[in-house]
Amino acid sequence: MEILKSAFVKEFIKLTNDGTRMGWHERNGGNLSYRIATEEAREIEGELSPGGEWKPIGRALPDLAGEFFLVTGTGKYFSNVILDPEDNITIAELDAEGRNYRQRWGLSRGGAPTSEFASHLVCHAAKKRESGGRSRVVYHAHPGNIIAMTFLLPLSDRVFTLELWRMISECSIVFPKGVGVTEWMVPGSEEMADATAREIAKFDAVIWPHHGMFATGATFDEAFGLMYTIEKAAEIWIKIKSTGMPILQSITVDNLKALEQAFHIRLTEGFLSGE
Ligand code: 13P
Ligand code: ZN
Repeated sequence: MEILKSAFVKEFIKLTNDGTRMGWHERNGGNLSYRIATEEAREIEGELSPGGEWKPIGRALPDLAGEFFLVTGTGKYFSNVILDPEDNITIAELDAEGRNYRQRWGLSRGGAPTSEFASHLVCHAAKKRESGGRSRVVYHAHPGNIIAMTFLLPLSDRVFTLELWRMISECSIVFPKGVGVTEWMVPGSEEMADATAREIAKFDAVIWPHHGMFATGATFDEAFGLMYTIEKAAEIWIKIKSTGMPILQSITVDNLKALEQAFHIRLTEGFLSGE
């Protein structure tokens, strides 16, 4: 099957376009990867090149051995993906040990996968394990309101999660585990990937202070929807703070407990205590 006609490629392109319209992808900001299903990889096998040289990932990810990923190229703009997908995205294959990758399609005028490829892959490995293989999408964006929040709150999983859950009734239902927050680190670094791996093992979304967010999901809709919900809550938080007016009422811890009961969800233990 022609690669650009595959449903997963079309959905990948749609997400890059939706993210662009949200204003989350200035210049080359953000990146996206999809763990291609075995049957999807089989359908496009005939369209792949034999593959260039193997390049190190910088760690061993045996959970991802032999897997294929569709991923944005480093330095590429999300806004250009829809115009020329073949020059802006690539299919990369991992070797039998999950230590090296090689490109099998795309980046037609040259290039490499995103500089955050290691962070994407550690997220894929953790989420594949945790979800029994359901989780396939890792999405990194630069949404302005969540970035703004990281200047005003302590970098604590619990503090960020509680503030966000309290902004919209739907939040605790959409992300009952909450959100993780790392320290500030150099983008693309090994430390950043390690810290992201630690947080994504506990949550489906991770905030990078003064930088952006990672969101994961089984589908493109799930990952994008999670990013959107968290950023919407952050937008409300920033709007409230910006008025300078006192808050007269809010979603309380008791309200969150009521949501837990009504929607049969389990909010992360310990986040509701100690108010
Ligand atoms: P890339 O262009 O390498 O994907 O980097 C963009 C980015 O957002 C870095 O965090
Ligand atoms: Zn970034």
